[in-house]
Amino acid sequence: MGETTPLYVRVRKTRIINLKANFCLMKDDDSGIFAKYYDQIYLNMKDYQKEATIIKDVIRQLEKKESKTLLDVGCGTGEHLKHLSSDFQCTGMDINRNMIKTAKDKVPNAKFKIGNMIDFRLKEKFDVIISLFSSIGYVQNFKNLVKTLENFHKHLDHKGLAMVEPWLFKKDFRKDSIGLTTFEDERLKLARMGTTEIVGSKWFIFLHYLIGEGGKIEYVREVHRMLAVDNQDYIKAFESAGFRDTKFLRENLWDGCRGLFIAAK
Ligand SMILES: C[S@@+](CC[C@H](N)C(=O)[O-])C[C@H]1O[C@@H](n2cnc3c(N)ncnc32)[C@H](O)[C@@H]1O
Repeated sequence: MGETTPLYVRVRKTRIINLKANFCLMKDDDSGIFAKYYDQIYLNMKDYQKEATIIKDVIRQLEKKESKTLLDVGCGTGEHLKHLSSDFQCTGMDINRNMIKTAKDKVPNAKFKIGNMIDFRLKEKFDVIISLFSSIGYVQNFKNLVKTLENFHKHLDHKGLAMVEPWLFKKDFRKDSIGLTTFEDERLKLARMGTTEIVGSKWFIFLHYLIGEGGKIEYVREVHRMLAVDNQDYIKAFESAGFRDTKFLRENLWDGCRGLFIAAK
């Protein structure tokens, strides 16, 4: 009552305060929430079986020798591997131990490792390395992107293939867009809203969760720090990592696909 502040001022203040709050208070993406509710959020949105079938078809079309071994970097909860493990000897790698724990339960015939894609070291080499649904975006900057792709190159067998679904390109950033995802069953009610900001070469995703479970509602915030670059930067990074014939497939591979880089060793 008695409020005379024009609406636009209040909106501007809220935005400034929120931005500060975002940077100061938000937990990083290791808060556990991302892994805990990952499948509830994404299994309704994505058809992993269809995506895995397309990946398999692309591999069979482009391979120079029969591919037998496959590494999924940033494998999350193992949904792609679940549908690839009858065709390939699969290994999944992720930095988040909770993701790996879920993936192991889901895909008992695959091997799993916890590691950072920028500097992981495995004894084996692979015929194919995939990294899907923008896991690579988490490397945050161009230097790390090159290091990560060099690492992929090192872990590929002769004539092996790398397939990388990138994070959104910087040119496609939509200011003021707000994402909303909901999930509901008899045990859990979940709403997640997200905003994004680009600051320099970093792309921040601020996620706000309302989680209703066991008669209580919890509010959790989380920030994901992503890479803000464009298509040609990925191509440059593949080339400096030693790959050849880097292609970018943009046509509708699957719903919501962010395109797919494919490069050969
Ligand atoms: C958006 S999820 C994608 C997961 C899975 N590929 C999918 O399609 O559902 C991104 C994944 O990348 C993992 N990740 C983030 N940074 C990583 C890093 N530096 N090394 C390895 N994994 C990483 C996260 O833990 C998360 O599981």
